[in-house]
Amino acid sequence: MIISTIQTNPSFGMKEANTIEALTLMRSVEADVYVLPELFASGYHFASAAEAASLAEAFKTGPTFTALTQFAEATKSFVVFGFAETDNGTLYNSSAIVGYDGTCVLYRKVHLFDREKLFFAPGNLEFTVVTTPVARIGMMICFDWYFPESARTLALKGAQLIAHPSNLVLPHCPNSMPVRSLENRVFTATANRVGADLRPHGTLSFIGQSQITSPMGEILHRSSATCAEAARVTIEPGRADNKSATERNNLFADRRPEFYA
Ligand code: ACM
Repeated sequence: MIISTIQTNPSFGMKEANTIEALTLMRSVEADVYVLPELFASGYHFASAAEAASLAEAFKTGPTFTALTQFAEATKSFVVFGFAETDNGTLYNSSAIVGYDGTCVLYRKVHLFDREKLFFAPGNLEFTVVTTPVARIGMMICFDWYFPESARTLALKGAQLIAHPSNLVLPHCPNSMPVRSLENRVFTATANRVGADLRPHGTLSFIGQSQITSPMGEILHRSSATCAEAARVTIEPGRADNKSATERNNLFADRRPEFYA
């Protein structure tokens, strides 16, 4: 199957223009699964909860859903993307996977980063793995990577590919994801953004370097730190089903959870 990470350069608050930018990049490569950044349409650096609410949308019915579901249907693909979600007045930093076959599954970021705690409620849904015809896909969002339990939980639930919408500001993730891949024997696809949100309350810059890693911890592709890009890598998801490290070691069967409490 072909996986594409869509590294965008959005302008804060310009939801429609940012969606068009993402769709233009997506149309430039043919893939089975596209992964977009966290909060790809709204931008990231909110001034207030009211501003975040004004850029949020409801699961399934928001304009971002309509645009990306239409794209998935037209191209027989699946799309994972991050969005600001409003649910009965509560805001979540969420992602969804939509697919040409009607797939539409929600995840709400469990580990909120820094000022996100001022606007968003922490995720209240389990880490979920979605079985598609091309791969079993799990979702986590950006800072979730810092907690190895996130990727481990998805891998234990059967994920072959972890789709990882991100808005990375710290430098550590690109060099850490190969380890998340290796220790869980899964593919990962981190889609980050470039550029900066220049706001009256401060500027926040994003590190790009969207990346796809293999179950052996190889970096199959890393995008630049500064340019928008649609990356495209062919992977064999079945490679993620082999958890064997040596003749006598299976990375999952050898776990000793009784010692981890
Ligand atoms: C982050 O979680 N957006 C750093």
